[in-house]
Amino acid sequence: MHACWCQFIPFTENYNLDAAVRIKNEVGMPVIVVGGIRTLESMTSIISNHGMDAISLCRPLICEPDIPIRIKNGTFTRSQCANCNLCTIHCDSKQPTRCHAKKGNLQ
Ligand SMILES: Cc1cc2nc3c(=O)[nH]c(=O)nc-3n(C[C@H](O)[C@H](O)[C@H](O)COP(=O)(O)O)c2cc1C
Ligand code: SF4
Repeated sequence: MHACWCQFIPFTENYNLDAAVRIKNEVGMPVIVVGGIRTLESMTSIISNHGMDAISLCRPLICEPDIPIRIKNGTFTRSQCANCNLCTIHCDSKQPTRCHAKKGNLQ
């Protein structure tokens, strides 16, 4: 029996990294990886040890837009994003994109 397309895929950190490394080895141009990057340690390692040119964050910045400032001032270690995808489900609504899992934002 085939799995239904709508079954949830469990979250794993850095889930595009292996594919991005393979792409980087083929294309000879800068590659930016996105997908499940949640810790400062991962961000640093992806660039220093895996040859990526940059990393990109989506849900962590919806959850905590001040992450770049906290990286700069040394107070960030791990994203608080729960990977619940409520922001993704709501992104085609008329309301501004925001974290729906944050206290006070639940709807
Ligand atoms: C609210 C929201 C809207 C998104 N819209 C798009 C989109 O229009 N096109 C796209 O390719 N990816 C879109 N994505 C996927 C993100 O670009 C990104 O690949 C994904 O969220 C995984 O990265 P993350 O773990 O840092 O969130 C969206 C994600 C979210 C949460
Ligand atoms: S709604 Fe869920 S997935 Fe989206 S930013 Fe908030 S915790 Fe992360």
